[in-house]
Amino acid sequence: MIRLAVIERVRQETDIVELIGSYVSLKKAGRHYRGLCPFHAERSPSFYVSPERQAYHCFGCGAGGTAISFVMAFEKLDFPEAVRFLAKRLGIKVDEETNGGRNQPLYDTCEKAARFYEQMLGKSTEAQRYIEKRGLGKATIQRFRIGYAPCGNSLRGNLQKLGLNEQLLVNVGLVIRRDEGLIDYFRDRIMFPIFSISGKVIGFGGRVLDDSEPKYLNSPDTPIFHKGENLYGIFQAKAYIRDRVPILVEGNFDLLSLVNHGFNNCLAPLGTALTQEQANLIRRYNRQVILCYDGDEAGLKACRRSIAVLLRVGVDPQIVILPSGEDPDSFVQKAGREGFLSRLSEGMDFVQFVIRGRSLSSVAERRRVINELSELVGLIADGVSRELYAEQIAKIFNVRAQLILNGSAVPQRGGTRTGLPATELVLAERLLGAAVRDQKLASIAKRFYLSEAIDNGMLKGIAHLVERYCEVDSYTPSLLIDVADDEVIRGKITQWLFTEDVLPSAEEFREQLCRFRARWLQRQIELAYQQGEIERAEILSQEKDRILRDNKTVVEKGGDRNGQERCAG
Ligand code: CTP
Ligand code: MN
Repeated sequence: MIRLAVIERVRQETDIVELIGSYVSLKKAGRHYRGLCPFHAERSPSFYVSPERQAYHCFGCGAGGTAISFVMAFEKLDFPEAVRFLAKRLGIKVDEETNGGRNQPLYDTCEKAARFYEQMLGKSTEAQRYIEKRGLGKATIQRFRIGYAPCGNSLRGNLQKLGLNEQLLVNVGLVIRRDEGLIDYFRDRIMFPIFSISGKVIGFGGRVLDDSEPKYLNSPDTPIFHKGENLYGIFQAKAYIRDRVPILVEGNFDLLSLVNHGFNNCLAPLGTALTQEQANLIRRYNRQVILCYDGDEAGLKACRRSIAVLLRVGVDPQIVILPSGEDPDSFVQKAGREGFLSRLSEGMDFVQFVIRGRSLSSVAERRRVINELSELVGLIADGVSRELYAEQIAKIFNVRAQLILNGSAVPQRGGTRTGLPATELVLAERLLGAAVRDQKLASIAKRFYLSEAIDNGMLKGIAHLVERYCEVDSYTPSLLIDVADDEVIRGKITQWLFTEDVLPSAEEFREQLCRFRARWLQRQIELAYQQGEIERAEILSQEKDRILRDNKTVVEKGGDRNGQERCAG
């Protein structure tokens, strides 16, 4: 871990104009510098760098950020790598905190085990023969640190020799308690270390060498490993999947086999159905993904489920269907790199995927398909994409696009999605933009639970950041950009930085905020009554009355705590 003080120094000492100027030719334009955007193709410059704000923003493609996020995007580095990169340029020594927190011993344990399994692969001709039979080359084996867990208690039985601690092995799931005592979890299996994004070994998958059951075992969830939040291959793929659309496959071996054929942009979900967290992880790198699941009924079903998960987080899936009975591994082995490439080019979008193979001759069936598609369209957060897809579907069925959009507006499960009226959305954005730029306003926003009253995913995300960091000494828009972890949020914040609005005074801001919250409360009250939650409606009414009557008291005395409790939920 890099110390915070170092990150802060890097932030302060890097001259963003000089830095970006070394990549892009910049010309002075008023208080800013201007050039051609390095993140999209353009002929006339819409890319601005501000020395005052130490930020950049492209009015063409919406990219934006700080010096650190520029290096992340351009050099394809993760955050700590980018800080090290900039520190080196400045001649700042990065003395890492070798102590990665209280989990360091767990990381060390996994690392030692991974090294041991790698060595054991070198000693087992049987395991080597298996891997050879499956066609993996030396480079792939080394890059993914594939190993072999021998029979018996190879870890548990050699604690001293391997410098391992029994309790730590239990804590990372490599040793488990059975009736007969503590035993090794993985025995006589090919081992696939699972890496964190930064390349630390955090868990393992293990496959039998024959067709016995269970075919695969995975490490249980531990303090450092959460299956549903990780993707197999992310560490090795991350340098490739910003430029190239990632390919998502089901199996570890599918991934390795594709890598072995030169496809470095592959990910696999660790044997779980794709989770929201995994989809979000993909989204950090790319807004598109290619689904290439097994060519059987289960694969198609998994595909259909993944489509919904991906659309919901704003990733647009392309679907590649393999011949029945094939998986990406078997297919690429038969068809070769070229064959797989041509299969990829036959990918379809989710609309074609849903329609595919359905007989659309009866009205009843057409209606079912339309409903299914409308539901998927309704998951898409981005307004433009949603409309484009609605139009595409409307053309196919010769109905109005509005029908698809209406169909998709069915209240979602849970039913609290009221949606922010358009004018309120504009105001929310103005309030939030001010809070981002001014720490005093940020703390006021926090006191009035701004994030709670914003019902728009991206803006809500920014409001959470504001509330979380507004008490930090080094609170600046740059800090928020660097912690944002989402390129859309970075783009939005820098867009605000480059607009010249005058900031409201604290008093004006508080008043606007109060009225904004009161209107939000009013909508919640109506909703609560509709749903028969009378008690909740009344509590909300009290808060609204209080805010309208004398919001000053609420601000200065902290008000009644009802609001805060609801906030936490
Ligand atoms: N999986 C698992 N437990 C099982 C079977 C599968 O955890 N009993 C997970 C593994 O991560 C596996 C993935 O689900 O990689 C996909 O399963 P499958 O398609 O059976 O795996 P393949 O990679 O095709 O396995 P192989 O080609 O080695 O038979
Ligand atoms: Mn397979």
